[in-house]
Formats: sequence, structure tokens, C-alpha cells
Amino acid sequence: MGGWTLMEMWKILFGLLFTRWPSCGIRMDTNTGAPDGLCSTFVEPYYSKYDCHEYSTVTPDGFRLGLQRINSRSDSGQKGPLLLNHGVLNGGDAWVLNSPDEFDVSPAFVLADAGYDVWIGNARTTRYSYGHEKLTEEDEAYWDWSFDELAAFDLPSMMYLVHNVTNKKIHYIGHSQGTQSALAALSEGKLIDIVNKVALLAPVAYDSHIWTPLLAGAAVLHLDQLVKMLGFNKFSTKTPQGKQYVDLICQEGNLDCDKDYVTAFTGTNCCFNYSKFPFYDQYETQSTSTKNLVHLAQLYRADKFQKYDYGAAENNQRYNSIYPPAYDLSKVPTQNLLLVYGGLDPLADLVDVQRLKNELSPGYKYLFKPNFAHLDFIVANNCKQQLYDEVMAFFEDEQNMGITFFENLASNGDTGMQ
Ligand SMILES: *[C@@H]1O[C@H](CO)[C@@H](O)[C@H](O)[C@H]1NC(C)=O
Ligand SMILES: *[C@@H]1O[C@H](CO)[C@@H](O)[C@H](O)[C@H]1NC(C)=O
Repeated sequence: MGGWTLMEMWKILFGLLFTRWPSCGIRMDTNTGAPDGLCSTFVEPYYSKYDCHEYSTVTPDGFRLGLQRINSRSDSGQKGPLLLNHGVLNGGDAWVLNSPDEFDVSPAFVLADAGYDVWIGNARTTRYSYGHEKLTEEDEAYWDWSFDELAAFDLPSMMYLVHNVTNKKIHYIGHSQGTQSALAALSEGKLIDIVNKVALLAPVAYDSHIWTPLLAGAAVLHLDQLVKMLGFNKFSTKTPQGKQYVDLICQEGNLDCDKDYVTAFTGTNCCFNYSKFPFYDQYETQSTSTKNLVHLAQLYRADKFQKYDYGAAENNQRYNSIYPPAYDLSKVPTQNLLLVYGGLDPLADLVDVQRLKNELSPGYKYLFKPNFAHLDFIVANNCKQQLYDEVMAFFEDEQNMGITFFENLASNGDTGMQ
């Protein structure tokens, strides 16, 4: 990916400047607005086996988030509540894309079958959330957020809703950005009284060694800033602007994105069924804010896990410091924490994961999946045997289930990379 010259960067800038953007008001992947979007789309065909209910909650800054609760009818959630929180450019449906009957059954069904009271979270601006109390998609402020707000507002609002309804402590499974917002929130002492065990799949805190061109190329090129300057606040690979951005990255990085877009951006997934891609593509990716991607690009360049950098003056107003404050990973409670990471994952890559492991306090467990890339955690064939049996063993009591977790007993003595 290296070797971009200044000239090429200008080419991109001018390319973006002189592209005719369609006029405002395009609504490509908006919220359904339907009270039963995810349940009716993905679970209704299996209502004889599963119960699915739609919930919603409002964040302190006004976003209406959708949640869905899925229980097996034969084993209705007696293992307690479990919240699934998706990654960036995904929505909650990532956990239910595959039918319950197939070999490549989706995680939400595996967990419901095993007796968990499964809750699916949907971050602000994704398809199965419901917009905002005052703002619309056309407002700039609707897109004025990054994972700082997911950690400060969305995750606590979802967790407290589940806690209010169930009155129980909640197990948590996050994927990708769903791990990043959890690490940020837990490092600040949030949610500790209501969270039970936490499994982080493809964990991301640091991202300076990611080798997915969507972000690495963008970060190196400062494309994020160009894009921000040109004023697209919403980022979606499905809008004309987003498509163009992805094309530029592909062109400049000499990637054959037409042939294998999935591998170019998420790594060589061991267990991804490519013939299902046209189906997945109807639902994913979903939109996020450009600011969220800018934040990820900032982390890449700063080589830190810290809050959004507004520049010295505004940082000073917001944070009382000209630098953005770092999230202190040593404060994350680790007694009930599991990290699961893949050997071929360009987004939660081994160097950044190792740094995360070094900075967490001792006591957490981890599992290494040498053949996993980024999407295997959510859509792998046979994900029960490949992964979720182990995650459930961690929730239940691994001692009795014959599974070996690696244990981090001393944070700096651990070299535990396989
Ligand atoms: C939880 O319940 C309390 C008390 O009824 C309420 O004030 C709060 O808004 C609820 N929180 C959520 C996220 O539902
Ligand atoms: C892959 O998906 C196709 C289309 O849904 C399906 O027919 C096939 O059985 C799947 N293969 C595996 C190994 O699950």
C-alpha cells in the first residue's frame, strides 16, 4: 500500500472535489422505522422455534436504538441475558444472517438454542435503530459522533434497558467495534455493576497495525480528512460517494476489489461461504459516521487508544488538556474477560492485540484462532463448533467442559502469542 506520492494524493483530492455528488436527501440504507424490522425479516420464518421481540431505548443524546430479544421456545433463556454488539459498518442483523437450520447457523440462534436470553444491540444510525428524537439523516449533527459516543451513550443505554427488563447481570459478546466501545466504557468504570462475563471477539483497542486498506490506506493518505473537508458526514459503502471512496482506495492500492472485495477488506476468512455473499450484501454493510472512521484513522496515526482529537483548542475546552485523553486499559476489570482473536484478521491484527493484552491487568483469558479473519467470528460455517461452544464454556464454567483457555496471569510475563 505504500508508495503513494503527493501527486497521487492531489489527484484523489481533485477527483473528490470535481465529482458531481447527487443532491442531498438520498436514502439508501435508512432505518426501517418498522417496530419489528429485524425480528420479522430474520426470525419470523422460524417463529415455531424462536420468540423474537423488538425493544427500543433512547440515548442521553437523543438517538433511538433498536434492540431485539430472541429466545428459544423450548429453552427460554434460563441461562440469563446476553447482549450481542456488532462491529463498525455492520448492524445487529450480522448475528442472524444465517438461518438456524443450516450448517452455517448464526450465533444468535446457537446461543438461544443453548438457553441464553439473547439480546441484539444496534448502534446509532444503523438500519435497525430508529433515528433520533430531533435530528434527521440530513442534519450534520446526526453524524457527529465516533466510538466515544458508542461507549458513553449507546452501550450503557442498551445494557441498562436489558438490565431493567430482566433484572439480571448481563453477559456480553462484542465483535470488532463492539469490543472497542466495551473496552472504552469498562476502562472508565461504566457498567461494572450490571455486566456479568465479557467475551471480546476480534478485539480492537489500538489499530495502528491494521492492514485492511479500507482504513490503513485511508489513514495513511489522510483521506479521512479530505472526505470530512468535502463534507460527507455519513459513511456508507452503498452510497455513490462511499462507493467512489472505496473504488479510489482499491485503485490506489492496486487491489482487485471487484473480484474479491470481502477478502481485500476483511482478510482471508477461513470459513466464510462466498456463495452467500449476494445475500449478505443486501443487508451489510450499514452506515456509520465519517467522524467514526476519522477517529479510527486518528488512532492509527497517533498509535494510541484515546478519545477523538478535536485539535488543541477544542480539546482544551472538552478535555481540559490540549491532547485527547487515553482510555486506560489497565482499569478494565479482567476477572471475567475473554479475548478471542484470529491469526489472519487485518482489523484486529496480532501486533495490536498483543499490545492490548500487555496493557490489560492480569486475570483475563484468551483464545487464539489461527485460521480466523475478521468475518469468521460472526458468519463462519459451523460457528458453534468453531467458536461458540468455547465462548459458552467460558460463560458457564470452562473447568467442566474440557476446554483449554490460555490464561493471562502476569501481564508482562505473558508472551502468549501462538
Ligand atoms: C430503567 O428504569 C429506570 C426506572 O424505571 C428508568 O428511569 C430508566 O430510564 C430505565 N433505563 C432504560 C435504559 O431503560
Ligand atoms: C454455502 O451457501 C450456499 C448457498 O446458500 C449453500 O447452498 C451451501 O450449502 C453453503 N455451503 C456450506 C458449506 O455451508
